[in-house]
Amino acid sequence: MSVTSQPNAAPPPAQGAAAAARPAAQAVVRALLDEHRPGHCLPGPMYHDPAVHAADLDLVWHREWVFAGHECELAEPGAYITLTVGTHPLVVVRGTDGVLRALHNVCRHRGAVLCEAPSGNTRRKLVCPYHQWAYELDGSLYKARAMPPGMTPSELGLRPAHVGTASGLVFVCVADTPPPFEPFAATVAAHLAPFDLAGAKIAHESVLVEQGNWKLVMENNRECYHCRISHPELAKSFPLAPLHSGGGSEDEARATAEVVAACEAAGVPSGFLMSDDFQYRVMRMALEHARSMTMDGEPAVAHRWAGLPGEDVVRDVGDVLLYHYPSMWSHYVGDHALTFRMLPTGPTTTELRTTWLVPGDAVEGEDYDLKTLTEVWLATNDQDTALVERTQRGVTSPAFVPGPYSEVEEDGVIQFVAWYTERLRAGLGG
Ligand code: FES
Ligand SMILES: [Fe+2]
Repeated sequence: MSVTSQPNAAPPPAQGAAAAARPAAQAVVRALLDEHRPGHCLPGPMYHDPAVHAADLDLVWHREWVFAGHECELAEPGAYITLTVGTHPLVVVRGTDGVLRALHNVCRHRGAVLCEAPSGNTRRKLVCPYHQWAYELDGSLYKARAMPPGMTPSELGLRPAHVGTASGLVFVCVADTPPPFEPFAATVAAHLAPFDLAGAKIAHESVLVEQGNWKLVMENNRECYHCRISHPELAKSFPLAPLHSGGGSEDEARATAEVVAACEAAGVPSGFLMSDDFQYRVMRMALEHARSMTMDGEPAVAHRWAGLPGEDVVRDVGDVLLYHYPSMWSHYVGDHALTFRMLPTGPTTTELRTTWLVPGDAVEGEDYDLKTLTEVWLATNDQDTALVERTQRGVTSPAFVPGPYSEVEEDGVIQFVAWYTERLRAGLGG
């Protein structure tokens, strides 16, 4: 180690940066929350006002657990993924000791972002491209060339964030004191166990930057009121008014009950589990005369997830749905899985990363065809993006007056808005 110098003062608290801007932003947000009529859309400025965006980061994104990626892409020492949670660039990296860590992706010299790629393998060290300070994979400073004597390397490690794993899903939190993660991990464990996500293979990823506020992206996901007209590809397998978002027919309820009963009889947990505050939910539902979310409704991958019962035991295992506010939703069908990671990149821009996962031993071209696997959700994402962007343009109009939600078709949206507004109110206090 060649670093030495004056001891540095302790770094400032992670959540201190926005303090000066808070009072004005909070006044705006309080007024908008007071304006919000239950059962109705949020007031328009909540989807574009910079003060609301600052509050969203401060009171939601910088406090909650946020979906980062998958353990299967972080299996090897040095493997990393990057993401930016609000104003926090992060790198999640597997250490040479096998431990997964979330680190602030900010060099302790002059602050350059260390890793720019969405994912990769940094081998044995994290090296800043600016002046080549090098860090161990646990974040400690390994080497800094030509620094003055007296510098204390132990005070110049990369700052840690929090990381948690739930059945192969990796979450991070930048709060000083994160909310409990274990209840979520425990809730989803039995439902996700058959899919062995930690040993899965990433077959494809897509990244979209939507010109819409993150809440519009989540609201759009939490209902299928729009699916009948907008999603011809998805509608080939996905119920048009699915039970999970409030709608649904007697036939659909019966089909889901049958799938749930068959899976549970085969030892596959399938019940409906939701946190009391609506923040996360996992459940199994029937697909619409289909076994996978493909154009013909048949599996895209030749063999099932190994943890599921064989087709001779349960032919139709439906779709496990999991969401976690504020950042993710996901689907798990018999032959593949899909995760969606949503991150706000500005008041009216949102990055959506979609990942298609298949059993770890599946081989492209032999066991699955990429087009067959991805075409439904590539099309669906594009259609949803257009809807979000169209809505963003509308709610930005000064003439927008928030309309009522359908209690039948949009109860998922009502739940999301209830969770979100409660988080803001709790954060604002008083
Ligand atoms: S900013 Fe990273 S080495 Fe200088
Ligand atoms: Fe949609």
